[in-house]
Amino acid sequence: MGLKRIGILTGGGDCSGLNAVIRAVTRSAIIEHDAEVVGIEDGFEGLIFDRHRKLTVADTKEILPLGGTILGTTNKGHPFEYREFDKEGGVTVKDYSKQTVENFKNLKLDCLFVVGGDGTLQLAHRFCEMGLPLIGIPKTIDNDLVGTDYTFGYQTAVQVASDALDRLHTTGESHQRVMILEVMGRDAGWIALEAGLAGRAHAILIPEIPYKMEKVLEKIRLRIEGGSPFSVIVVAEGAKEVGKEAITNELASNRLQGVAQLGGVGYHVAREIGEQIDLEVRCTVLGHTQRGGTPLAFDRVLGTRLGTEAVQAASEGKFGNMVALQAREIVLVPLKSLAGIVRQVPSDSQLIRTAESIGVCLGR
Ligand code: F6P
Repeated sequence: MGLKRIGILTGGGDCSGLNAVIRAVTRSAIIEHDAEVVGIEDGFEGLIFDRHRKLTVADTKEILPLGGTILGTTNKGHPFEYREFDKEGGVTVKDYSKQTVENFKNLKLDCLFVVGGDGTLQLAHRFCEMGLPLIGIPKTIDNDLVGTDYTFGYQTAVQVASDALDRLHTTGESHQRVMILEVMGRDAGWIALEAGLAGRAHAILIPEIPYKMEKVLEKIRLRIEGGSPFSVIVVAEGAKEVGKEAITNELASNRLQGVAQLGGVGYHVAREIGEQIDLEVRCTVLGHTQRGGTPLAFDRVLGTRLGTEAVQAASEGKFGNMVALQAREIVLVPLKSLAGIVRQVPSDSQLIRTAESIGVCLGR
């Protein structure tokens, strides 16, 4: 099938490597198919309110090493349940899906590439079921999407977190302190686990394994007895103590998104340790530094491969799929198979065994 005009949008939380995808899709569509490329601005919000612009090869010249997305993104623009606020702070939820489909049709696209995480790709699936020709491209720093071995953005986030752990090591050891690093990972602990392994964390707490505080304290005490009166601990934001819920961050502006934002478990763990152990404790929250900035080579290459293979799939009319990395190859996976499933770290996985067999405490 000839591609005459294609579109691309980036939705949900950003991550490093999005611009690699935009560049690859744009260039491949123009170079291989002589197609026109339309960039939809700010995720699905740009389709709801008809905000878009033409993309050329020249527009993609300098963007490969850039973090973020040149098209903008939002995790608020849900076309089926769009939240609108009045001056008094009241919320009205509106269904803009018909308007979205109408705007899509007016754009006369042969295919729309939807780059996003679980939420955005589920929206893509809903629109495919309504007859739109869409192809998904998976992204998230959390690496928690099913169907793909890795998502781009993840390796960069792990590197940022592991660099931070290296730095916390030297200062923690010098001052004989317990250093806590809180990293992202809402439902899955991949970043904490891999960064913790790379950054020599003594304890790693992840959402999949509810932790027992006494196990963490035991580890710190053993280290003190062994002549190392300092410890470095990495905690995923979604980590929870046995029998307790994850801790949420009470920022006033969170009402705009309508989803509870996680955060604070690092300080919680720090407080508990400080009450029980005679060492000073400090907590660092890495936050959005894991999402921004220059992508590692791995994420640039993965983004580029996913982008070009997505264009190839569109030229073969294979809509309703997402491109995914499986065992070194880019393959197609039906969007419907995502179905809101989170790919968590299995608690009996090899990676967990690796950590425990070198003496890392996982709080159990
Ligand atoms: O899904 C990626 C992620 O980085 C999560 O780990 C985190 O909970 C969330 O995004 C934070 O999103 P934001 O603060 O941008 O709404």
